[in-house]
Amino acid sequence: MNIISFLGSPRKEGNTELLLREAVRGGGESGHSVRIFNLNLMNISPCQDCGGCEDTGICIFEDDMVQIYEEIRNADRIILASPVFFFALSAQVKIMIDRCQCFWCEKYLLKKPVPEGPYGRKGLLLLVGGMKNEIGIQRAEASAKAFFRTVSVTENKTLSYMGIDAKGAILKHPTALKEAYEAGKELVRV
Ligand SMILES: Cc1cc2nc3c(=O)[nH]c(=O)nc-3n(C[C@H](O)[C@H](O)[C@H](O)COP(=O)(O)O)c2cc1C
Repeated sequence: MNIISFLGSPRKEGNTELLLREAVRGGGESGHSVRIFNLNLMNISPCQDCGGCEDTGICIFEDDMVQIYEEIRNADRIILASPVFFFALSAQVKIMIDRCQCFWCEKYLLKKPVPEGPYGRKGLLLLVGGMKNEIGIQRAEASAKAFFRTVSVTENKTLSYMGIDAKGAILKHPTALKEAYEAGKELVRV
């Protein structure tokens, strides 16, 4: 089973990373390996809306998205982890998602969605926000779900935690890490 994950926080050892690590640990429990892409360290340009992918479903830009495209195409499971920044996904995540416009063209214009694969395609979304307000979580989730739909991840679960602001605050949450671990385990169950 091919399992990939995206870390969308720039804060090293931050709340998103700690949460993602637990999900990855859970996912890896039954012998699977989970690949982690640290989006903040990657060279990914924002979508230029050039229309270059409209007729082919292939992005004309060659940066680190080239390997991500391949991994998304072959993934059976995708974990997306982001902090809430200004009531939205982090820019690191959003830039990657926008570059998936080529999958959108492939699916909706060329009528060739990414194939399901032998295990189906499932996703897990992990969100952390410093505020107690739910709007940021809701808006981030809406974008992430549009991404999952575009890359044919039909089934997906969200774990979100509000009021988690200081670095490492997630460690003091009574259930978050355990829930992330269990969600990772559940994700790879067939
Ligand atoms: C640029 C920036 C914008 C933020 N905007 C929001 C926001 O709109 N809503 C919110 O709940 N938290 C917001 N936060 C707080 C972060 O979501 C919070 O600190 C989170 O725990 C960061 O996760 P990390 O440790 O993985 O980076 C913001 C933080 C930063 C740095």
